Amino acid sequence: MSNEIFEKYESNVRSYCRKWPVEFSHAKGSIIVGVDGKKYIDFFDGAGALNYGHNNDYIKNELIKYIESDGIVHSLDMYATAKKNFIEFYEKEVLIPRGLDYKIMFANPTGTNAIEMAIKLARKNKKRSNIFALMGAFHGMTLGSLALTTEKGAREGAGVPLYNVTHIAPPYYMDNSFDTIKYIEEVLNDDHSGVEKPAAIILETVQAEGGIYPFSVQFLQDLRRVCDENDILLIVDDIQVGCARTGTFFSFERANIKPDMVVMSKSIGGYGLPLSLVMVKPELDIFTPGEHNGTFRGFQLSMITAKAGLEFMLNNKIEAEVKRKEQIVNNYLNNEIKPLLKENMSFRGIGLIWGIDFMDGKLARAVLDKCFEKGLIIELAGRNDRVLKIMPALTIEDELLLEGLNIIKESIKEVLWKN
Ligand SMILES: Cc1ncc(COP(=O)(O)O)c(C=O)c1O
Repeated sequence: MSNEIFEKYESNVRSYCRKWPVEFSHAKGSIIVGVDGKKYIDFFDGAGALNYGHNNDYIKNELIKYIESDGIVHSLDMYATAKKNFIEFYEKEVLIPRGLDYKIMFANPTGTNAIEMAIKLARKNKKRSNIFALMGAFHGMTLGSLALTTEKGAREGAGVPLYNVTHIAPPYYMDNSFDTIKYIEEVLNDDHSGVEKPAAIILETVQAEGGIYPFSVQFLQDLRRVCDENDILLIVDDIQVGCARTGTFFSFERANIKPDMVVMSKSIGGYGLPLSLVMVKPELDIFTPGEHNGTFRGFQLSMITAKAGLEFMLNNKIEAEVKRKEQIVNNYLNNEIKPLLKENMSFRGIGLIWGIDFMDGKLARAVLDKCFEKGLIIELAGRNDRVLKIMPALTIEDELLLEGLNIIKESIKEVLWKN
């Protein structure tokens, strides 16, 4: 099959297609199919946008019904029925059972738009420009969110200085010995630190693009306390690891904390359709009407699939399923993969997001290429792309999960132990 049309006309900026240089035409569940008919197991999951699998039948039927009824598709932030139904369901089935009270700001279309909205609102509330973010963070590619994001290549694309963010080393720095909490406290209390007090601290509870680093419950609770003690907002970016990825709908539930703002995108859309939103404590909801805006904020098809996605998640007890499958992955990595790794290599993860850290980007890429040859779509993350990122749909069948893990094992054997 020829990819000539893409290579000739699509910008050089394209990236994923360079790892999997085939044309895909169909997908179902955790299988994605090339135009030549070759099937691949999907451990990439649309970068976390397809937690309930490709073309999920339940969600698809709700979408088709809505389209056939000529329901409103585009509505900016006008009142619309699909949005009403989503908000009502979200409040009743997601927020209230968890004791959470937030207002919802729709940001659409994509994750970075919601991050921009959250940090603008934090700055407005606290009348401070600085934000603390963690080294290794990924929060998006537009200028405000890019200032939070740390990857060098991405930052170099900005073309302007990226201001008003202070990056703090996370606890895994210095061989897991860095005391991030103590450092933040000292910096805030030292009138010679030279660091402006931030409006907010933003973090992913599991750094995903940074290389799959789940933060401990203690760390998350301590950060909540530091924010409270210093009048700083805590923003959780749950764009990638929310929507049950870690075994609870929100990733911060395991720490029993309540962030001041929560940013959602990717799988909140349920079906791979764009939806992004910010949940904000009611007292912080101080934007004046239209102060933040966007034409595609009211994309009603995403409201339909978002509600259907939540129904599917609850009806199929997906959170419990993730915890069960977490054991399958953890056992497999311990029993089958660990013995194949060299001394400096390791794995880490939680729920259904795991990384195998080869400590070497070239090796990780060689394993990825072997996986692809053998029919597995899988992505890299972390410093120099040295981490193989295992992130299947939460709905993946056990047999496919094991088949994908087996492909990783065989690929590692061939790459690491070929002689
Ligand atoms: C944690 C996190 N935040 C923000 C973003 C940005 O989302 P988007 O690519 O939809 O702009 C991503 C995307 O990978 C992400 O993983």
